[in-house]
Amino acid sequence: MTFTPRIFSGIKPSGDLHLGNYLGAIRQFVPLQDTHETIYCVVDMHAITVWQEPEDLKRRTYEIAAAYIAAGLDPKRSIIFNQSQVMEHAELSWIFNCVARMGWMARMTQFKDKAGENSENVSLGLFAYPSLMAADILLYKSTAVPVGEDQRQHLELTRDIAKKFNHDFRKQIAELGFEEDFFPITETLATGPAMRVKSLKDGSKKMSKSESTSDLATIYLLDDADAVAKKIKRATTDPEPLPSEAAGLESRPEAENLVGIYAALSNQSVDAVLAGFGGKGWGAFKPALADLAVSVLSPIANEMQRLVADRGEMDRILRDGADRARAIAAPVMADVRQIVGFIR
Ligand code: AMP
Ligand code: TRP
Repeated sequence: MTFTPRIFSGIKPSGDLHLGNYLGAIRQFVPLQDTHETIYCVVDMHAITVWQEPEDLKRRTYEIAAAYIAAGLDPKRSIIFNQSQVMEHAELSWIFNCVARMGWMARMTQFKDKAGENSENVSLGLFAYPSLMAADILLYKSTAVPVGEDQRQHLELTRDIAKKFNHDFRKQIAELGFEEDFFPITETLATGPAMRVKSLKDGSKKMSKSESTSDLATIYLLDDADAVAKKIKRATTDPEPLPSEAAGLESRPEAENLVGIYAALSNQSVDAVLAGFGGKGWGAFKPALADLAVSVLSPIANEMQRLVADRGEMDRILRDGADRARAIAAPVMADVRQIVGFIR
């Protein structure tokens, strides 16, 4: 069976977008538009697996969609929409809840990390989350998904669900005349060197929205130029000058992080950056990084601000994306209902 090469990915509107989300995810989505059919979702139904203030949920949903566009996704070429507008996601996830096994779900490390000691008190949705993610992907028969390292296990589960569905219903699939592999075995897409941005205050932690030790640790995509420059200039470093090649960054996590950010923002290798800065001190490097970060991030922040201020335009884009998503999803869902034996 040949499936249309189709990319699906999503980000959940559960925290304010930061530099890690941009370099590690959103920016990687852009070039795929040239080679694939691309669907980029704001997964609001995933966000509510932990409590979200409804007003914040709305604001962040608009902000992520705006960030997609500001970073270079074209809403005409890519399908950009919020998950809850296409109800087939919920419908297919219920069927997958009945395909996936408790034991598979219980092995998910992200659930274990998030639930921690408190597993009796988290939502049922948080446990079922990977089954909804499998539905997001398979509803469009997506062939590849670009995501960060932390999502690999969820993609393995997606493949397990696809295989079990194809197997359990093989008789109906054949009788109804569908291809034997009704759902594809979706691959995890490695999008260049996986960029892991670390906290500006502690090189052992990843940059995240939950980093609470200091508000200087995280660069948010909506930070203004002064805030970006200030956070970089106050970033924690060691007293040594910069090395002349990448090997010299070993055991220097803060230095490695800042040089890595410079390399990513300027589309150069770490060695190329160090060829210019090797032997120099932080007093020379930090202002250069601050200028670079402002020059890349300010236009994105400005475009995001412009877009989120225009709710009418954003609503139109999201509705158009949802209509195009539904046009793919609805026929797949109709086939699934038949396969499962639902009368209609
Ligand atoms: P999250 O913010 O955890 O919902 O993640 C959304 C997307 O951004 C996922 O694809 C993550 O892999 C990616 N991401 C989150 N934090 C970082 C980071 N510090 N560095 C690189 N990628 C990140
Ligand atoms: N679980 C992903 C995350 O936390 C978000 C997500 C939901 C997703 N559905 C998806 C990513 C489908 C890729 C494909 O980052």
